[in-house]
Amino acid sequence: MQGDMDRETRLIEEFGLRSITGQELGIDHYFARRGIIYACRGYEELMEALQSGNFYTLTGIMPSSERIHLGTMAVVEAVKCFSDRTKQTILLVADLESLATREVSLEEARRIAFEFHIPTYLALGIDPEKCVFYFQSENKDIHKIAADASREITLQEFRAVYGLLEPSRIISSLYQIGDILFPQLVRPMIGVIPVGLDQDPHIRLCRDYVRRSKFFQFKQAVGVYIRDVPSLKGEGKMSKSEPHAAIFLPEDDYKELKRKVYKAFSGGANTLEEQRKYGADLEKDVPYKILQFILKDDSELQRIAESYSSGQMISGEIKEYLYQRLVELMQDLKAKIEQYRETVKRKEIRIISSARELAEYLA
Ligand code: TRP
Repeated sequence: MQGDMDRETRLIEEFGLRSITGQELGIDHYFARRGIIYACRGYEELMEALQSGNFYTLTGIMPSSERIHLGTMAVVEAVKCFSDRTKQTILLVADLESLATREVSLEEARRIAFEFHIPTYLALGIDPEKCVFYFQSENKDIHKIAADASREITLQEFRAVYGLLEPSRIISSLYQIGDILFPQLVRPMIGVIPVGLDQDPHIRLCRDYVRRSKFFQFKQAVGVYIRDVPSLKGEGKMSKSEPHAAIFLPEDDYKELKRKVYKAFSGGANTLEEQRKYGADLEKDVPYKILQFILKDDSELQRIAESYSSGQMISGEIKEYLYQRLVELMQDLKAKIEQYRETVKRKEIRIISSARELAEYLA
């Protein structure tokens, strides 16, 4: 993982982030132990939050395609890291953002969220008794904060963080600030926001706004950054805009899944002889990197790392291994998604539309 680390160190310095280790976090979750959670913005506040337990955990996901992919799954898993300590877990459906930036209607977003996304989050282990959901379009409180922030943030600042300035981005960013801070309309509390590094501009703007806001007394929001799940191509992160290089959850078509996994970018040498002799480069190997996100057993992962990097295991074998683990994951998820779809239909989940409703669920 040295290559990732170098790139990460550069990014961390460039953006003014702070790297964090599992030990500092004191969280015993494989994402923390393996450094999948690797950086934050707002280190002091994060430490204060974790020590006091006085914080909420919130993240948002756009309902722009039916199935989620492994990258989104990683965000959900990261949210779970905090579930034992946090006062509240909030997962929001960013339907206004997908309307503004992805041309998805609110009706479509709603359908996708109820039929696919929310059941999938529950299938992945989000506890319906502990998590609160909402749709941006139905939360009346985020607008109050968005309006206030719109006065405090200049066009120059938006330009500096986004480069390309479009009304859709500006409004989405203001809604996002509303999302991140609205739980505090009940009671000021630090917000811990697990996201990919691409969301850091929003966190920066939000933190700047918190320092300036006169009408609201907010505590800070902390960005907690998780490593990107790599695209199967080996370059960049997995994304729904490149379906051939992404793994979706669940996937019924195992042939297609196998084909994708076998085509994934390999860190193994070109010939069998060279693979045996030099071993694989784990920093470049996409199947290995994906295993880091889905294989929970540390010693098993360690065994594979040693065997594959020493040339005992070859790239065809790690691909087959990954494929098998993914099939298990899909089978498990499929059954659970069906089951949780019923939970959602029966309205046995907590859906809110204001900070006041959120207060009813405060732990
Ligand atoms: N902008 C995020 C994304 O692309 C989604 C989002 C909306 C979000 N509101 C949020 C993330 C609040 C974290 C916190 O994908």
